[in-house]
Amino acid sequence: MGAPGSGKGTQAQRLVSRFGIPHVSTGDILRREQEQGTELGLRAKQIMEAGGYVDDATMIAMIRNRLTQPDAANGFILDGFPRTIPQADALADALQNRDRRLTAALLIDAPDETVIKRLSGRRQCSDGHLYHVEFDPPKHEGRCDQDGKPLSQREDDEPEKISKRLETYHEQTEPLKDYYEERGLLRRFDGTQDKVKVHDHIRATLATLRLEERL
Ligand code: AP5
Ligand code: MG
Repeated sequence: MGAPGSGKGTQAQRLVSRFGIPHVSTGDILRREQEQGTELGLRAKQIMEAGGYVDDATMIAMIRNRLTQPDAANGFILDGFPRTIPQADALADALQNRDRRLTAALLIDAPDETVIKRLSGRRQCSDGHLYHVEFDPPKHEGRCDQDGKPLSQREDDEPEKISKRLETYHEQTEPLKDYYEERGLLRRFDGTQDKVKVHDHIRATLATLRLEERL
């Protein structure tokens, strides 16, 4: 969990390469639907560009379907889901029905001024590999280090769209902090730190949780 630009995708990509479980980003799934020109993709495009959220029923159905895929059998890292309390309740039900539970809700905390700077300099390739023109530049300008594909800017990374996305986040997603705190699942990370430090802190926390699970 975290505001737009707090580093959810950056951290999730680093964690999946460590744990070998899928990175399930609802934003990436919606962008793929847009590329394929599906009915959902067309509907989502308008909502995403306006900085709002796609309706809960659609998002819950998407996640229920994704979590039944074979690659998610041993766990997954969710990025950008849940974003509302109905989504969080639906996730808890879906996991309970499979005798599974959430290990933790990782919150990457970063103030609005920080994330605004990050989003305006973000670049990514069509496979979602992430860069920043100043904080994490690619080796060759405009090209992805991992697959050589051209880098581009997201359409929702324009200044007015960023402020609307932040407003939606504060209004609809911040209540989830209390939701997960009350359930003893919330773990906070200082997202203003360097991405390697944030990663190390998340890894150390996950190691402790895994140890506790075995006791
Ligand atoms: P989504 O794609 O999830 O967008 P978001 O939440 O706005 O978050 P971002 O992807 O913009 O930021 P991030 O936290 O992943 O940061 P990143 O790692 O890229 O969702 C898009 C839209 O889809 C939503 O607005 C909504 O409309 C819809 N949607 C998705 N899920 C939904 C749901 N569940 N319900 C309803 N609607 C839904 O990092 C940002 C930049 O900073 C990068 O350039 C990176 O290189 C750099 N950076 C990262 N970490 C650091 C660091 N520590 N120091 C310096 N730079 C850093
Ligand atoms: Mg992201």
